[in-house]
Amino acid sequence: MALTGFRDFYPDDCAFRNAIFAKWRDVAHRYGFVEYDGPPLEPLDLFTKKSGQEIVTQLYNFKDKGDRDVALRPEMTPTLARLVTARHRDFKKPLKWFSIPQVYRYERPQKGRGREHYQFNCDIIGEAGLEADIELIALVIDTLRAFGLVEKDFVVRLSDRQFWTDFMNAKSVPEDQRYAFIQAIDKSEREPREKTAEKLGPLAAEVFAILDDAASAKSERLDTVEAGLKYRGLQDYVKRDYTVVRGLAYYTGVVFEVFDRSGESRAIAGGGRYDTLLKNLGDVDLPALGFGMGDMVLGDLLKEKKWSPKDLMTLKAYFVVADEAFRPQAMALAQELRYFFSVEYPFSPSKVGKQFQTAEERGCDVAIVIDQQINEGVVEVKVLATREQSKVKTGVDLMENLSKLELNKHHREAGLPEA
Ligand code: HAM
Repeated sequence: MALTGFRDFYPDDCAFRNAIFAKWRDVAHRYGFVEYDGPPLEPLDLFTKKSGQEIVTQLYNFKDKGDRDVALRPEMTPTLARLVTARHRDFKKPLKWFSIPQVYRYERPQKGRGREHYQFNCDIIGEAGLEADIELIALVIDTLRAFGLVEKDFVVRLSDRQFWTDFMNAKSVPEDQRYAFIQAIDKSEREPREKTAEKLGPLAAEVFAILDDAASAKSERLDTVEAGLKYRGLQDYVKRDYTVVRGLAYYTGVVFEVFDRSGESRAIAGGGRYDTLLKNLGDVDLPALGFGMGDMVLGDLLKEKKWSPKDLMTLKAYFVVADEAFRPQAMALAQELRYFFSVEYPFSPSKVGKQFQTAEERGCDVAIVIDQQINEGVVEVKVLATREQSKVKTGVDLMENLSKLELNKHHREAGLPEA
């Protein structure tokens, strides 16, 4: 049994996970992002310095055999900051980087929450203007739209950490109480009002007025971001909401969290601007922003919506070895076809009918029957869905025949007429 909070991925689960990853990569590429990665194990202080108290209490940390304090990464952002600050001169700004790390947090496992998850991270580094914030939010929206989700399904709750920093400045909230203040707002939705009021003290009434009526509080940054999203036709996907401040310590500007409209699950994604993290970590003054989207909450939502990963688009062929005497020729042909198509065959002799049955069970598109005709360079190709059967010459003819079947598979998938 896997450890509590950790998942096994049987082939179906892997197919589902990989289909999610494929979509993530596809959308990131369409926005011009390039992929990077880092080690799952990092020096402990990378996270204790920067991630904020909540994540630190959830760390998987230990001493390694060299007596070093290490931790499994609970998030990717400090690693990204480390990578960028170490070699920032090598890259043209702004950087648009993405990654799909597995991350580890010692949380209490429940629906949508485990002790490991995969997290799609997209970050823009070296751009201070709000155009980058708009682009990033458009990207998070388009990522979810790529799975067929629409504005009825999810909402991006937009907020501004700087708004609260300005508020704390105006009210002279002492430096050492600011993190607790932000945390109280972050938790305010999940806690009874009295409890939040206790934490906020004399500022409670004023804070609640803002939380209850977002329109009453001004943020030029959010006005600009909302206008930018409107130009792109994405206004129905966002809602201003000052309760969102993000639990992590490093955010400085526009922040957001994405929720399922039914409001039942935890956030699908979260992120925002963190303009001072690279300076604090590596003494490199570069503005930055990004988001993380977990595979668990998204996966649950997609399962609810009955989204299923698309079948392998490569044509799948099954070799029916009707006469064992010709197995060597069958193998030679199978090897050749595997440059282009997926090919399977029975490992041991079995009845022809049984082989056809296996072909169906394996989800193959065609059966290629091998018998003595192979000596004349001919095979029988049977399309399993239609039962159509034809004799085809091996070589160019067979290649063309199978390529056409594959093309039609794509056409059917895209709802286009057959070629
Ligand atoms: P985060 O809000 O801590 O942000 O996590 C991002 C997403 O990861 C969450 O919205 C949720 O879907 C998923 N997630 C977090 N913890 C768990 C868990 N225990 N089990 C399942 N899913 C989980 C960050 O980690 C930031 N580093 C994101 C970021 C990137 N900010 C800037 N760049």
